[in-house]
Amino acid sequence: MAALKILVIPGSLRTGSHNVRLAMAAAYEFARAGADVTRISLGDYPLPIYDGDLQAKSGVPKNAVNLKRMMGAHHGVLIVTPEYNASIPSLLKNAIDWITRVQDPHESRGQVFREKPFAIAAASEGRLGGTRALAALRLILSACHATVVPNQLALSFADQAYDDMDRLQKEADIEALKALVTQLIEAAQRMM
Ligand SMILES: Cc1cc2nc3c(=O)[nH]c(=O)nc-3n(C[C@H](O)[C@H](O)[C@H](O)COP(=O)(O)O)c2cc1C
Repeated sequence: MAALKILVIPGSLRTGSHNVRLAMAAAYEFARAGADVTRISLGDYPLPIYDGDLQAKSGVPKNAVNLKRMMGAHHGVLIVTPEYNASIPSLLKNAIDWITRVQDPHESRGQVFREKPFAIAAASEGRLGGTRALAALRLILSACHATVVPNQLALSFADQAYDDMDRLQKEADIEALKALVTQLIEAAQRMM
């Protein structure tokens, strides 16, 4: 069987981002589990704020098409999101909104969300660890008819969660990440 390909998308561009660090830790675990893992930055896919007039005039931007195709080239997707005002950042929501508008030949719109499983994680300096952003992201992905694996990881007190090598320190966080990674891999294998 071809190597399982997993895409990891952090929802932050910030230097020193807790969510990018969590995405890196997750990518490491996926690689340890034998997956072929790609971690991207949404900064490499700059997009205007979604506007129906813009889409009508100029079509869907190339970066949205490329992002959708990057998702399409993988068997499973992990999204690692910050929590902004109890929801996901506009950076991530805007990327998802544009991706849902991509219409590739011989595909139905939104097929890329339906044909592979998603896993979700969040990191926040707060006690709730981005739980509300996870609820929002699960709702959005479910509205796209995506399969979202039941486990999720809300990394609380994220400013204290990593060691000097950007590895998670707490056993409970490490185990939760491993469980999430295993669940996405198993779901992706079932849907391949
Ligand atoms: C506009 C804004 C809103 C925020 N709202 C929340 C929030 O509702 N809950 C929370 O736990 N943290 C909130 N935060 C703090 C972020 O979770 C924190 O800045 C986090 O480090 C951002 O993720 P990053 O480190 O990956 O960039 C907010 C930050 C910003 C800038």
